Amino acid sequence: MLNEQLRRVLQQMPKAELHIHIEGSLEPELIFALAERNGVKLAYGSVEELRAAYAFTDLQSFLDIYYAGASVLLKEQDFYDMTAAYLKRAEEDNVRHTEIFFDPQTHTHRGVAMDVIINGIYRACQDSPVSATLILCFLRHLSEEDAIVTLEAALPYRDKFIGVGLDSSEVGNPPEKFARVFARCRELGLHLVAHAGEEGPPAYIYTALDTLKVERIDHGVRCLEDPALTERLAREQMALTVCPLSNIKLCVFDKMEQHNILDLLNANIVATVNSDDPAYFGGYMNDNFIATFEALPLGLSHAQRLARNSFAAAFLPAAQKQQYLDEVDAFFAKV
Ligand code: ADE
Ligand code: ZN
Repeated sequence: MLNEQLRRVLQQMPKAELHIHIEGSLEPELIFALAERNGVKLAYGSVEELRAAYAFTDLQSFLDIYYAGASVLLKEQDFYDMTAAYLKRAEEDNVRHTEIFFDPQTHTHRGVAMDVIINGIYRACQDSPVSATLILCFLRHLSEEDAIVTLEAALPYRDKFIGVGLDSSEVGNPPEKFARVFARCRELGLHLVAHAGEEGPPAYIYTALDTLKVERIDHGVRCLEDPALTERLAREQMALTVCPLSNIKLCVFDKMEQHNILDLLNANIVATVNSDDPAYFGGYMNDNFIATFEALPLGLSHAQRLARNSFAAAFLPAAQKQQYLDEVDAFFAKV
């Protein structure tokens, strides 16, 4: 059991979230409320029935339900309400800064316009006391041509997002499939990230780094299968945005006791803790920290390191980053 002091520290320490899919923050209650508001028919009869379907065997079994849940989002206010609800939970967990993924193709393919998506999410970010920026993710199960069309549609709103990412079904859709669109995003000065090494092999982490030239790896937990890659990630201080509860729910590890986040830290990798899709995986940021610290021999020094890593790996101006790091150190000096 976690001692009370450590639990309080995990809850109260300032932290950044760097891996959250905003569509994955849609709670079943909000899905049903939006379905009713928009006259969308769902395949599930009640909140309980929907929640009961959240028994995943792998990434794809989750994605099928996640895309169905997102079908209730039609109007700008829907995107606003979803994002505002997430930011309120983040604030309660003492998240000071968050970099939010959104999947425009999930919506544009249903006829929702890009401005509706981006303006709704962005406006909620502006109205929150939590510092929040946006990262547009391309769906890797779709073609690179579709990603290019999506990028072009988003460029009129270039000032409203800071980077691009790559998500959805990993195995069979390697990073190099998106070499051209990422090269274009790089020219545009966008930050670059990609999911790699969640279910996919270490080879995908290599191509995310060398072909896409990403600045962070989302998940990346399979890097430990390759000692040379592990050593490289540590040497380059390439951050991994690890999502412990997600990894358990999607059966990347059988049990939290088997999660490798402590091994990553011991290998000197800049690992961070994140929620991924909190409405689907049983918890927001502090739930992730608590579940991880309950299962593994992690203590105060690890908590401080993880809080520092979250800001060190954030896409923030140097002065602002330093301010957050000082805030973490001041917090731990009083513990
Ligand atoms: N989209 C939402 N959550 C995801 C995850 N964990 N992996 C890949 N794509 C996702
Ligand atoms: Zn993810």
